[in-house]
Amino acid sequence: MYCKRLGRLVSGLYRCRMGLSRAAVRGQRSAGLQRSAAVWSPCPTASCHFSTRSSFRNTVDPDEVRRFQSLAGKWWDEQGEFAALHAMNDLRVPFIRDNLLNVHTARHPGKPLAGLRILDVGCGGGLLTEPLGRLGANVVGIDPVEDSISTAQLHASYDPDVRASVSYQACTLEELSADGEEEQGAGQFDAVVASEVVEHLADLETFAFCSSHVLKPGGSLFITTINKTNLSYALGIVVAERLLRIVPSGTHDWEKFISPVDLERLLASNGFSVQSVLGMLYNPVSGAWSWTNSTAINYALHAVKLSDDPQPDRAEDSGPHPEHQSAATHS
Ligand SMILES: C[S@@+](CC[C@H](N)C(=O)[O-])C[C@H]1O[C@@H](n2cnc3c(N)ncnc32)[C@H](O)[C@@H]1O
Repeated sequence: MYCKRLGRLVSGLYRCRMGLSRAAVRGQRSAGLQRSAAVWSPCPTASCHFSTRSSFRNTVDPDEVRRFQSLAGKWWDEQGEFAALHAMNDLRVPFIRDNLLNVHTARHPGKPLAGLRILDVGCGGGLLTEPLGRLGANVVGIDPVEDSISTAQLHASYDPDVRASVSYQACTLEELSADGEEEQGAGQFDAVVASEVVEHLADLETFAFCSSHVLKPGGSLFITTINKTNLSYALGIVVAERLLRIVPSGTHDWEKFISPVDLERLLASNGFSVQSVLGMLYNPVSGAWSWTNSTAINYALHAVKLSDDPQPDRAEDSGPHPEHQSAATHS
């Protein structure tokens, strides 16, 4: 079993280093997605929305949904399975706030994000949604796991401040994006947040396309995720899941991790300019996160939507513009 994993790791790293063509990567993702869609397609409208690309495209991996379904009651246990996500708020909340304040002037003392609409994709139980709401933003949290959304709604109901600023929906980004002219469809959000989510999606191309679609021009995309390196396999899966059990076993699939360079390329081809990429490090002894120069394991990325929606067919093969390369260390 371990040898098989190791073999996949080595061949994955080899492909990674050799640089798979964009078409090959997309082909692999599509193939996986078609298998998933045959099992469960949550979004009949989304397939219409993506008719120019593929009739099967959606972001949902049914295995991921099942896994998070089984954990849906545990989101707010600060010492439990999601302890590392609770602790991550110390970094990711200021990261999102400060980058938004670079663009939007705060007008309300104590509520610096007042007037901004944020979409929290894959919000789970609302661990990140709530603090963003407390900063004054109007936050919509979405997640395909209905029980997680129920947990998030129940928890928000205890705090009048949060109740007034956050709302939740059990749906995917592609469903919300396909809402068209309605309030939550195209160009409605100042920011999209996907924290520790993209490594659980079946199709990142659809995620990037829909993120751009729901953002206003100039809007921000914030992603935190795990790099695809030897170290992320060793520490993120072997140590964190199997030895220390900081994260439930089976939470992560190394094949779905993505390097900052590949993510930047994907985002550039969907109309984004990456502004910053920062490495993040978790200390399992103190249970605290800190910023680090290396993006070898975890990283946070901020990108800005350059213009209106990307042209999907034309954008396929374009890479990041040299001016948009981030200054961060890509490990
Ligand atoms: C590791 S959790 C992160 C939760 C939350 N963002 C946080 O940091 O507290 C990953 C979340 O992604 C959600 N997810 C899985 N597939 C998804 C999809 N296709 N679209 C949106 N969310 C998805 C899961 O249900 C789960 O809540």
